[in-house]
Amino acid sequence: MTIQEEIHKRRTFGIISHPDAGKTTLTEKLLLFGGAIQTAGAVKSNKIKKGATSDFMEIERQRGISVATSVMTLEYNNVLINILDTPGHKDFAEDTYRTLTAVDSVILVIDCVKGVEEQTERLMEVCRMRNTPVIIFINKMDREGQNPFDLLDELEEKLGINVRPLTWPINIGQNFKGVYNLFDKSLNIFNPNKTKIEKEVVSVDIWTEELDKQVGERDANQLREDVELIEGVYEPFDREMYLQGYIAPVFFGSAVNNFGIQELLDTFTEIAPSTQPRQTDVRVIEPTEKKFSGFVFKIHANLDPKHRDRIAFLRICSGTFERNKFYKHVRLDKNMRFNNPYSFLAQAKEVIDEAFPGDVIGLYDTGNFKIGDTLTEGEVFQYQGIPSFSPEIFKELINLDPMKSKQLEKGIQQLTDEGVAQLFTQSQLGNRKIVGTVGDLQYEVIQYRLEHEYGAKCRFDHRDIAKACWITATDQAKLNEFIRLKSQFVATDKDGNYVFLAESDWILRMNIQNNPDIQFHFTSEFKRAVEA
Ligand code: G4P
Repeated sequence: MTIQEEIHKRRTFGIISHPDAGKTTLTEKLLLFGGAIQTAGAVKSNKIKKGATSDFMEIERQRGISVATSVMTLEYNNVLINILDTPGHKDFAEDTYRTLTAVDSVILVIDCVKGVEEQTERLMEVCRMRNTPVIIFINKMDREGQNPFDLLDELEEKLGINVRPLTWPINIGQNFKGVYNLFDKSLNIFNPNKTKIEKEVVSVDIWTEELDKQVGERDANQLREDVELIEGVYEPFDREMYLQGYIAPVFFGSAVNNFGIQELLDTFTEIAPSTQPRQTDVRVIEPTEKKFSGFVFKIHANLDPKHRDRIAFLRICSGTFERNKFYKHVRLDKNMRFNNPYSFLAQAKEVIDEAFPGDVIGLYDTGNFKIGDTLTEGEVFQYQGIPSFSPEIFKELINLDPMKSKQLEKGIQQLTDEGVAQLFTQSQLGNRKIVGTVGDLQYEVIQYRLEHEYGAKCRFDHRDIAKACWITATDQAKLNEFIRLKSQFVATDKDGNYVFLAESDWILRMNIQNNPDIQFHFTSEFKRAVEA
């Protein structure tokens, strides 16, 4: 196969949802349809469940599962589908945001009872930042959910995207009878079945009595009315608009009952984008370019504390990746080669000799990689779009064992390189370390891992910080002056960039107003953008 054919064959995407909407169930059903697994129950939920086990045991369990299911590959309709898994727990949202930088499209799962939830909105914001094409799957239609028209309105309003239904439900909850495919005008009759994947599809002209026979007169009339309304209100589906992230096609179904999945998968393989070009700080890189390049979007520490090696997840963006060939690690300006890169095909880790744009491979790492690092065949550029956002919770790291300060230093450095949390150092205040996260659970993870992997004990003290903003100025003297005056509130991030730690949104606004020479940035991406 030529590289063009390899690229054309691949669809790399992520499934995202608010916890409990059905992401794990849908993932499993997609694998089932693709023949990648044989039985239901093979994909473990990576949710952290409260209850029986203590939290850190749950965290370890979750880490184990998330390595095993980080990338799943299946082949369907001659298309190679790479599903990148995203953590189910909201405290691990940063991890999800980063994974979204490595996909070409997403499927967003919505619970028809709950509609758009908090996490759905935030995930969608990240998709919008990158104009990622989105397909929406409205799940749990076997439950008494909201009216489908109301759901569509809610999606448009809260997610800021236009929608276009491609299937339409006939009734809902206990009376759910199936979905009508607006695209090819076929009817899929609902038959609750959690294990089988066969289905009953009938081609029906809904304007004839055949429909009444299939679903009863009342539901038949309702469907005709709904279809008329849909065709009148919504523009015909336009693939270009979908690819540009302006419009999201919507499907209805029930993942646990294998219902509506095939329509979703068939359409997905038809319309979802194959490997897309990607922006770097220098130029756009086309996947078809001869020379290899890729970036690290996730780093996973070894679960065995005796082995410090880690796995870096590399998304290939152009050219062919080859085993044992030297590549340039751009940030370190160092040539590296990899003896045993592996793919995640068929759920078993296997060493690969080559990989193509759109693929994700695992590289053993002894501490050379940070999230966002770029590998190339010699050219100097950095992939963009892997920013850090301001954390939501800030705590100071307190060393509880002065004899182990070196271990603590190394441990927190490595954990933050992995992206578990963000580290801000206040060098003017005796190297005070502020750790920022999006959820409280991360502090437990860090505390536990520092102790068990690095032998360092610590405590976290709450700090009154509401937001972290990256600061720059065209006039270095002005920046130095600001840093001197505000030294108590200034820190550096892991790359040495200056960050202003604001105690409240109001204080931040005042500082922005009173310091017109200082630029305040809400993500860490500014630097590359400025250099570009
Ligand atoms: P998540 O990964 O998005 O967090 O959700 P997950 O798939 O784990 O699904 C959350 C719950 O919703 C599960 O029930 C799952 O069985 C159920 N579910 C998924 N799809 C459907 C559907 O189409 N209809 C209905 N009625 N339920 C659905 P659970 O009780 O939390 O777990 P389990 O014991 O059933 O596995």
